[in-house]
Amino acid sequence: MRLLLLGPPGSGKGTQAKRLATRFGIRHLSSGDLLRAQVKAGTPCGQAVSEALTKGELVPDEWVLDMLREPMIEASAEGGYLLDGFPRTLAQAEAAGEMAKAEGVVADAAIFLRADPEQLVERLLGRAAELGRSDDNEATIRHRIEVYNDKTAPLREYYAERGILLDVDALQPPDDVYRDILTGLGRDPEPSSAENTPA
Ligand code: AP5
Repeated sequence: MRLLLLGPPGSGKGTQAKRLATRFGIRHLSSGDLLRAQVKAGTPCGQAVSEALTKGELVPDEWVLDMLREPMIEASAEGGYLLDGFPRTLAQAEAAGEMAKAEGVVADAAIFLRADPEQLVERLLGRAAELGRSDDNEATIRHRIEVYNDKTAPLREYYAERGILLDVDALQPPDDVYRDILTGLGRDPEPSSAENTPA
């Protein structure tokens, strides 16, 4: 199973990704987590990445593509991937699509967690106290929402045109969001035992 998981900041991508990756036995690749790891590790790009994250700006497309290319191919060889927060621009979607086609690892579905971003601000402010992320303050959250609306929301149409869009209401409780994703993928939301069935 190869999945893309997109949605506005705070829509629950990370929350659902962990559960879906466990369910399908596939690798969870979060572009945000991988970028935060670069900052922590002090890589050559770390300082520039840190500034982009703190401002709520996107990191350049080429950096993200370079970062994810190998993990995507490796994960596919091991049963599949779940890309959380990638792609985020049309350029990323097109480049990743071409690479995936060439490698035979094209995504089966693009799951969009649908929510009015305004309703997610409180969720993220709630998380701020818990995780202390540099981008979880109200001004940066609002900027991330603007960037999402401008650059990422148009990808919904892009994947709809390619026939792989799965649109899910993200304002429901997490268990209901999970159930709707599984149902949309044609899977039983309550399997009798761990499914772990790479497909
Ligand atoms: P990233 O880490 O991907 O952040 P984001 O997209 O803003 O999303 P969040 O992690 O804030 O939220 P989420 O949707 O994962 O929700 P979560 O499950 O945590 O990206 C960070 C930055 O990295 C970007 O701004 C950019 O700078 C850079 N970046 C990343 N990818 C990039 C790319 N491809 N290209 C360029 N730059 C890139 O949930 C949030 C909270 O809500 C939690 O407290 C959770 O417990 C709660 N919650 C979850 N679901 C529900 C629910 N259904 N009901 C109630 N509460 C819920």
